[in-house]
Parts: sequence; C-alpha cells; structure tokens
Amino acid sequence: MPEVIQISTNNQTYNINIGNLYGLNALSNSYSKILIVTNPHICALHINKILSCLDSKNIFICTIKDGEQYKNLSSIEYILENAFIHKLDRKSLIIAFGGGVISDMSGFAASIYQRGIDFISIPTTLLSQVDASVGGKTGVNNSFGKNLIGTFYQPKAVYIDTDFLDTLPKREFSAGISEIIKIAVCFDRDFFDWLENVNLVDSKKDLQYAICRSVALKADIVSKDEKENSIRAGLNYGHTFGHIIELLGNYSLYLHGESVGMGMCKANNLAVLLGMLECKDSIRISNLLKKYHIPTEYKISDLDDFYHRLFLDKKSQNSNLRFVIPNGIGDMKIITNPPKELLFEAMSR
Ligand code: GLY
Repeated sequence: MPEVIQISTNNQTYNINIGNLYGLNALSNSYSKILIVTNPHICALHINKILSCLDSKNIFICTIKDGEQYKNLSSIEYILENAFIHKLDRKSLIIAFGGGVISDMSGFAASIYQRGIDFISIPTTLLSQVDASVGGKTGVNNSFGKNLIGTFYQPKAVYIDTDFLDTLPKREFSAGISEIIKIAVCFDRDFFDWLENVNLVDSKKDLQYAICRSVALKADIVSKDEKENSIRAGLNYGHTFGHIIELLGNYSLYLHGESVGMGMCKANNLAVLLGMLECKDSIRISNLLKKYHIPTEYKISDLDDFYHRLFLDKKSQNSNLRFVIPNGIGDMKIITNPPKELLFEAMSR
C-alpha cells in the first residue's frame, strides 16, 4: 500500500513516497535535463525500471564506483564534471539512484553545482530507504573522518520502492536494519517491542511497516530540527563510536550499518555504567541486532588513539565530547564529557 510522509523544514516541504515510483515522471518533467547518478551494479540491475518511468529526452547517466571508500571529493569532482559535460543548467535535476553513498554524494554535488540545483532520491538499499536518503544530510569522507565535509540540502522528493531490496545482498540488508533498531531504541519503545516480535527478513508486510515507521519518526525529527541543534542528534546514536570503527577498517572492513551496530553496543555500555540503561535492556538491544547477524562486539586495540579520535566527531564542541545514549528503551539523552574512566571502561567492554 503506497504511503506518503511529509517533511517540512524552514525552506521547503517535500514528500517521501513509500511503495512505488508513482509521481516521479510528472515531477521530473518540469526539469530541462536530468543526470542520474548511480553505481555500475545498480545501473546494470535496475536502470531500465527508472528509464521506463521517465518521458524526458534529456537524461544522462553518471556511474561512480560502489563503496564507502569512494565517498570522497574525487567522486564529487567526477559527478560535477559530468554535469558540466552534459551542460546541466539551474533548471536541471540530479537523481540519486543507489544506496547511502550515492544519495550523500549526489545531494552534495547538487548542493554546490552552480550554487545549487534540485535533486530527487531513489534509494535502493534498506539503509538509505530508512535513513540516508531522508533528511538532507549530504557529504563525503576524508582522511580525518566520516562525513566531515558536506551540507544540509533537502531533496525535492524521495521515492522508496521496496522491490529494489529483492536484489540487495543479505549482509547489506541486515546492515540497514541497524538504523531501524537505532531509531526505535531512541524514540519509540512500542516500535522496539514490535521489532522483537517480528522477522523483517521473512515478512514483506512487516518490512514495509518498519520502513514507514522509521521514515515517519525521522521525518518528524527532521521537521523539528533540520540542522541538528537538538533532537536530531539522537539519530547519531551508535555513530560516534561507529564512525571511528568504520574509519579504522578503511571503510571496507565493515559496512556502515554494521559499524553503527557495534557503536550502539559501546554507547549502551556507557549508558549502563551511567545508570541510564538497565543491563537487561542493553542485552535486549544486542539480541535484536544479533537476530539479523549484525556484529555487536568490537575490540578496540588502542584505547588512547580511539579516545583522541572521538574529538573529531561533529557533535564535539569546544573540545567537549558529546554522546547519544539510550535513556531506557524508547528515549535518549545527549551527555557531555562523561567521566574518562567510565568512557574507557565502556570502550574496552
Ligand atoms: N543519519 C542521521 C541523520 O540524518 O541525522
């Protein structure tokens, strides 16, 4: 059953259409040219489905290499070069067609090409359907860390078609579930309880509900706090530790969602040590991650080095460390400068 969820920020309101690509052609027809940014894998599998929906005669395709390790400024330059070669103007459109890496980079390129042109997102991975494509965070990684370069730039629309998930590798599907668990832990206890009782691999109906619920929660949060001055920071639960785990694995050892899963468990350790999360609830969260084979343990080999890397997190301010931790299941708190010995204890568990 198609569903439409709206995000309203200061500058614009847009729809996240869940269920099919209905409306994509009508919206795209208002643009002079369209550049579809995708990767070779998604292009080979699904580009015909997109092309068959679009009437425009001015469609160009730009493929960039697949993987978090290519989410960098060189790839942005490549997308921009394609935009210049095909003479996109300010009435042109970029369509991001792929996973989180594609949506983050396409959105970033759209935000800086000729000072900003419109973009639409068609996410093909579970992670990008429930998180990355929604809410307008765009950007790339560099040697200092993940997503440290980027913009807040909202798409004109998002089209989520769960049929694309049929070809998603199992490991990537599982990694996307960690973002669903993340949002449930921080914002919706009933949703978490429900997740414990279903299996998103076996039931398309339950999967569709989980996507809708995650997107609705995120849309509400982004509408209240687009630029992450308050509540949106809760969406970074697991990410402060997770981003460093990803970086230390050269963005290739673990998928983003897997690193977030391990990061959530480190954040839970801290919450337990601070008396904000009961041990049994921390175990419930780990068990839900384990149900989908998301790794929950990560041995930090150099605690001092890991600690110093925490200061590069975008939430850290004036050299103060900030962490999102669960305040029981269904609520979260942002804490500043927890006692160093507790932090080390949480990291070493
Ligand atoms: N992925 C976290 C956020 O969009 O804020």
